[in-house]
Order: sequence, then structure tokens, then C-alpha cells
Amino acid sequence: MTSRNLTSVSTTLWVVLATLLALAVAASGFLTHGWTIEGAGAATRLTARLALPWFLLAWGASALVAFWPGGWRQSLLRRRRALGLSFAFTHFVHFAALTSMSVIFGREHSMVSLVGGGFTYVMITVMALTSNDQSIRWMGAKRWKTLHSWGGALIALIFANSYMGRIESDPALGVPAFSAIVGVALLKIAAWRKRRGSRLTATA
Ligand code: HEM
Repeated sequence: MTSRNLTSVSTTLWVVLATLLALAVAASGFLTHGWTIEGAGAATRLTARLALPWFLLAWGASALVAFWPGGWRQSLLRRRRALGLSFAFTHFVHFAALTSMSVIFGREHSMVSLVGGGFTYVMITVMALTSNDQSIRWMGAKRWKTLHSWGGALIALIFANSYMGRIESDPALGVPAFSAIVGVALLKIAAWRKRRGSRLTATA
């Protein structure tokens, strides 16, 4: 087996384990609150909480390496595809939980969350489907990077908006979650400026 095949098997295994973890976390919401709308709400919230660290690790890996190359940051960057897919599959479980809220328990979602969240789900699905070497070759590296950069920024925005709304009602959750998202966003902007600075110096 080639090292590329080995990497793709370990990515698959990683993502399967992450999905099983998300399903277990969703089930714990129903186990603690029963087969009720509260149970579905808990499953929805817990799966979003589990998805956030996967997303931040995948989103922030390249910026971490730009400032502190080597060590665990490099391993994180090498594992970025597995991390991103773990986020996507965990968020598909969020989707199943929020769908059960409306289809089984009759909760209505606001138009804003249906349109904003729905579009973000389309992006997450496209990003997951193109997270492989064939798609990068087929789309070309530049177009692929543009899609994943905009998609990442959109996901970060939806997370930031959700947790900003919790800063007042639940500061123990809202403050650390919102600060982590803003922290990674600032690190990414600083890394982008650093890369652009070195490119300009190299061409001067
Ligand atoms: C059609 C799309 C979506 C709908 C209808 C939806 C609906 C919901 C609902 C009903 C909750 C639980 C609210 C509560 O009981 O307090 C929730 C929580 C949440 N959702 Fe979604 N969601 C959608 C997509 C997304 C997306 C795309 C993201 C992020 C990229 C996201 C991130 C979150 C977060 C961060 C929470 C809060 C979790 C917590 O309390 O820690 N959602 N969503």
C-alpha cells in the first residue's frame, strides 16, 4: 500500500470515528431530555458545540504553521482534510437533529436561519465533496482555494453570529466560543499579511 493510500484510509477511519462521536453526543441529548423537543434541542446544541473545535482546528492550521512552523502545528496541517471532514460530518448530524426538531416535534425555524444556515449547508456539502486530490486537480488549485477560503469564512461568520447571541444569555459558553472564533480569524488575517509581505519582498 502506498503512503497516499495509507493517508486516505486513515482519513476515512478518522472521519468515521468523528461521525460516531457526533451520533453518540446527539443520542446523549435525547437520553438526558427524552424523546421530546427538548431532547432534539439538546442534540442540536451539543452537535454544534462538538463541530466548532473541528472547524477551528482545520480553519486555523495553516495560520499556526505560518507563525510557528514544525511540531504539532505541522501535524495539524497534514491532518487538515480529516479535521475539515470531521467538522462537515459532525455538522450533518447537527442537520439531522435540527430536522428532527421540525419534522417530528413541529418546531418552526426562522426564515433567516433557514436561508443563512441552508446556504451554509450547501457550502459545507460542496467543500466536503471537493476535499480530495481529484477535485483539486479537476478544479485547479486556485479555484479550489477560493471556494474553500470563502466557505470557511462563511462558516466562521455563522458560528460567530450564533455564539455572539449567547454572550449575554450564557456567558460561560458564549464568551470562550466567540473569543476563540475571533482569535483564529485574527491569526488568519495576520498570517495572510505576513505571506503577502514576504511575497512582495521576494518580487522587489
Ligand atoms: C438550516 C440551517 C440551520 C438551522 C435551521 C439551525 C437551527 C438550529 C437550532 C434550532 C439550534 C438550537 C437553538 C437552541 O435551542 O438554542 C441551533 C444551534 C446552533 N447552530 Fe444551527 N442551524 C442551522 C445551521 C447551522 C450552521 C450552518 C451552523 C454553523 C456553521 C450552525 C451553528 C449553530 C450553533 C453554533 C448553535 C448553538 C449551539 C450551542 O448552543 O452551543 N447552525 N441551530
